[in-house]
Amino acid sequence: MIRVITYGTFDLLHYGHIQLLKRAKALGDYLIVACSTDDFNALEKGKHAYHDFEERKVMLESIRYVDLVIPENHWEQKRDDIIKYQADIMVIGDDWKGKFDYLNDICKVVYLPRTEGISTTKIKNDLEKSHI
Ligand code: CTP
Repeated sequence: MIRVITYGTFDLLHYGHIQLLKRAKALGDYLIVACSTDDFNALEKGKHAYHDFEERKVMLESIRYVDLVIPENHWEQKRDDIIKYQADIMVIGDDWKGKFDYLNDICKVVYLPRTEGISTTKIKNDLEKSHI
């Protein structure tokens, strides 16, 4: 069984997220998503998610490609997660290209091309512009 792990906020779940999760799952048999907590977003990522952690977790768990959702509480937990969940592959969008190469000693690190033209930030900006 090949286990894959990925990381992200996954707020305002969109087509780019689904494409990422679909391709991540296709790399193996079991997909673990580490979803950033509200405190991690606020304190480390400088983000405020529209959906709180529990809501984002429920939505991720309802996706057919996702087998397990765990919290991402800090930047440095990846090594421990990979060992604990016996992940063979760590996958993330190529906006992070090169940033996690240091994990190559314990797993394969794969950067997938982002889906163009969509992001949580863009959705927020577009809705703000159109006064919805
Ligand atoms: N992702 C992707 N294609 C997109 C948007 C996101 O492949 N168009 C990937 C990211 O590279 C990451 C995962 O989806 O691996 C979660 O990304 P996240 O940061 O939660 O989504 P964004 O839409 O990029 O959010 P933001 O605008 O807040 O940065």
